Amino acid sequence: MTLKLAVSGKGGVGKTTVSAMLAGLYGKRGKPVLVVDADPSPNLALALGVPKQARDKITPLSQMLDLIEERTGVRPGSSYGKMFKLNPEVEDLVDKFGLRVTDKVRLLVLGSVEAGGSGCFCPENALLRRLVKHVVLDRDEVLIMDMEAGVEHLGRGTAEGVDLMLVVVEPGLRSVETAARIKSLASDVGISKVVAVVNKVRVDADLDAVRNELEQIGIPIIGSIPQDPAMVSADLKGSSPTDLVSAATMDAVRHLMERIDGYAP
Ligand SMILES: Nc1ncnc2c1ncn2[C@@H]1O[C@H](COP(=O)(O)OP(=O)(O)OP(=O)(O)O)[C@@H](O)[C@H]1O
Ligand SMILES: [Mg+2]
Repeated sequence: MTLKLAVSGKGGVGKTTVSAMLAGLYGKRGKPVLVVDADPSPNLALALGVPKQARDKITPLSQMLDLIEERTGVRPGSSYGKMFKLNPEVEDLVDKFGLRVTDKVRLLVLGSVEAGGSGCFCPENALLRRLVKHVVLDRDEVLIMDMEAGVEHLGRGTAEGVDLMLVVVEPGLRSVETAARIKSLASDVGISKVVAVVNKVRVDADLDAVRNELEQIGIPIIGSIPQDPAMVSADLKGSSPTDLVSAATMDAVRHLMERIDGYAP
């Protein structure tokens, strides 16, 4: 099997940027990569450098009402008393809806399930959860999942297939507190390996400041990425950061990838 990586962290720390850069590097290595945007406000396509025209055409799976009805037997928002299939067929969805970013990298945008939050017992959640289970347990691509600060869509059985939870933190205690919460949520569902990358590092002291705190909660740091003004330019231009960032940033992400490889099955 190949690496199944979940990327998580506080809002704005750089989860999407890191996921996109890792996807680019894994793709360049020649392995098929599936990047899953599981953030409720998806913008991974932008970070991957998908042109606007193609981005505008993306419909998150959670909004494909006909598909959800076809697969689960119940239309989202309709009578919730109805029974829906808990194991809808999902095997064809990556091929049908995965957007080809490069010849090796494909993107799947899940979208969010509004009603009821993460625990929502509804057909759209049933489909997404089953699909995530499929991409984690049954498929052979390198999987990179850009998640929000939680473990939504990861049921117990699925989480066991996740090799590593990479928590992105930035210098500052707020993102470290979120990391602690993520670690505890992760261990609740059965993900034991939780590591951190410190992003937006300006000076060594930034790294030192969070190292102790992270060590105390049992999250080892496996990489650090400098604060790079080119990221902001990339964001402004709608380009992939990979095309614009400095050599030092690329080295840092490459180094991170090598460390991540150590956790691959
Ligand atoms: N190393 C870096 N140096 C400078 N800016 C960065 C760096 N990493 C990310 N950024 C910038 O920080 C902002 C947030 O990054 P990103 O969208 O990747 O974070 P996120 O954790 O996915 O956010 P959200 O929680 O909103 O999904 C973006 O404008 C991005 O360009
Ligand atoms: Mg994001």
